[in-house]
Amino acid sequence: MAADPRLIELFSYYREGELHGAELLLRLMKKMDDDPQAQIKMTLHAADEARHAWLWTKRINDLGAVPVPVAKGYQDRIGMRTIPRSVVDLLALTVVVEERSFARYTEHAARPDTDPETLAVLKEVTQDEKWHQSWIQEKLANLAAETGQEERAAEMLEKYREIDREVYKELRSMEAEAFGEAV
Ligand SMILES: [Fe+2]
Ligand SMILES: [Fe+2]
Repeated sequence: MAADPRLIELFSYYREGELHGAELLLRLMKKMDDDPQAQIKMTLHAADEARHAWLWTKRINDLGAVPVPVAKGYQDRIGMRTIPRSVVDLLALTVVVEERSFARYTEHAARPDTDPETLAVLKEVTQDEKWHQSWIQEKLANLAAETGQEERAAEMLEKYREIDREVYKELRSMEAEAFGEAV
């Protein structure tokens, strides 16, 4: 039986999000080359995101399909609304992106119609998103405190959370439409 093209598209969105996540980490690594402890964590974090992209690619491939191009995914839509430049901004955006992926994967995993293979991928990636979220949050708090940028960090977190809510609403309504609200 051919795979449901709507699922292949959904997993392609997940794949795209993970690839962008890896890209965001690579940008951070370049900007934080004076922090060797952060470099260690960021390298593992970037490797996790690349592996998550592979797990979704493998899931798509195991279903007998190939990833479909994603014209305007989550990060593209974020990028249309804001361009983070400083380390504090990039860390704040990473916190928000991690919160979203954790929430989204958790929500998907709770859907009763999820097949066991997809559930296994969701569980595996969610596990990593948990530590990503906590270490980036801690790094942002420490760096902001050390450099007197607590206010900026709080402001950017609020701003990015608002943008994230808008973007997620758009994507969620596209998804609900594609799946006839039966998602
Ligand atoms: Fe991820
Ligand atoms: Fe992550």
